[in-house]
Amino acid sequence: MTINGTISNGNASAILNGVTAAVTNGHTNGHAKEHTDAEAYGFKNPSLYVDPEHKLTMVDGPIEEPGPGEVTLQIKCSGICGIGSMEVKGQCILGHEAAGVVLKCGEGVTNLKIGDRVGVEPQEPCEKCFLCREGRYNLCEDVKFSGIWPYAGTIQRYKVHPAKWLYKIPDALTYQEGALLEPLSVILHGIKGANVKLGQPTLICGAGPIGLVALAAARASGAHPLVITDVNAERLAFAKSFVPRCETYLIKPKLSPQETAAEIRQIFNEGDEAHDEYKMPASVMECTGVEGSVCTACYCVRRGGTLMVVGVGKSIMNNVPFMHLSLAEIDLKFINRYRDTWPAAIQCMKGGIVDLNAMVTHKIPLERAVEAFELQTDPTKFSIKIHITDDTEALVEPAVPA
Ligand SMILES: NC(=O)c1ccc[n+]([C@@H]2O[C@H](COP(=O)([O-])OP(=O)(O)OC[C@H]3O[C@@H](n4cnc5c(N)ncnc54)[C@H](O)[C@@H]3O)[C@@H](O)[C@H]2O)c1
Ligand SMILES: [Zn+2]
Ligand SMILES: [Zn+2]
Repeated sequence: MTINGTISNGNASAILNGVTAAVTNGHTNGHAKEHTDAEAYGFKNPSLYVDPEHKLTMVDGPIEEPGPGEVTLQIKCSGICGIGSMEVKGQCILGHEAAGVVLKCGEGVTNLKIGDRVGVEPQEPCEKCFLCREGRYNLCEDVKFSGIWPYAGTIQRYKVHPAKWLYKIPDALTYQEGALLEPLSVILHGIKGANVKLGQPTLICGAGPIGLVALAAARASGAHPLVITDVNAERLAFAKSFVPRCETYLIKPKLSPQETAAEIRQIFNEGDEAHDEYKMPASVMECTGVEGSVCTACYCVRRGGTLMVVGVGKSIMNNVPFMHLSLAEIDLKFINRYRDTWPAAIQCMKGGIVDLNAMVTHKIPLERAVEAFELQTDPTKFSIKIHITDDTEALVEPAVPA
């Protein structure tokens, strides 16, 4: 499978550097210009490429034929996720949170047919190594992950994907919900090990998309009291409207993790004079990856409780209170993506167990995908989950270049 599209028509491009996005002309003259995505509307396969400098470009990408066991999808909806700190090793189509419709089946595909609507599990493990054999295929070192170089992502019109890693979605689910199966999968995997239970105090750190899915999933699991933190008051206000029974705590940057934890523990103590360790969060789901938040989470969790770190951050966190965790027998756990979660995620949505639709604050047409990333990194604009949509009726037999 190749992703070597011709890099031309670089009219719609942006360089994303942390939280600032600069729109520049995609050609080499370097003059910033007001970009228009009009050209991309003429593309056969509008595709959003990222390069090692984090420059984003809309390109008319290649249209591939499905090989044995593969299908060609039209991606109808694809969520976006931060790329600020992501290492980009080569030019690649971005995106890994998607749903689409089957346009063409390769040889030997029996589980899908043209017209099936599907959610995309964006990983294809080797199925040969010991981890794959034990079923922990998310840990496979030879995984082909969509949107990580050299494997093409989902922010394009036509994506070839193994039929085995696609799941039919019922008519009741929209493509938007189909794309939300991916962040829900992260939390379905995380919550299994987090020991979240009926009537058990639970803390969620971070009210970004992942923290909000954790909040909805913890509520659906019956956790109570349920507290969520963030440094951003707007995100906490959103969390409160999303799951009204939760309580919110705004992180004060001047307080140390221990001082912050003492304030959060007060909420769980429900105003009682005497501290009651039993009321402290037996489960904490850390969903920021920020070292200060990880340390705060360590000090919040009840003695003998579980801390599930979902967040991804610095490779070394020297301030994690190792002996505090040891002496209190706190179970410090991690997850790396998901395995075997799409079927359950579909049931959760179909059964009304979790409804994540309110998280989608913006929808942007595929041809204007660069704008979606500018919006996401613009600190003056409020967004939670931004979806890139393609409402065109794509050809059943995509034109294949000779
Ligand atoms: N383990 C996995 O497989 C997996 C999968 C997906 C995402 N992630 C990680 O999960 C984390 C959350 O993802 P997201 O998409 O919600 O990211 P996000 O950046 O949109 O959200 C993070 C939230 O944390 C808040 N925050 C920052 N510092 C904080 C602090 N000190 N205390 C409390 N809140 C703080 C931010 O304001 C933001 O609302 C990221 O680190 C991401 O890389 C991990
Ligand atoms: Zn993502
Ligand atoms: Zn493997």
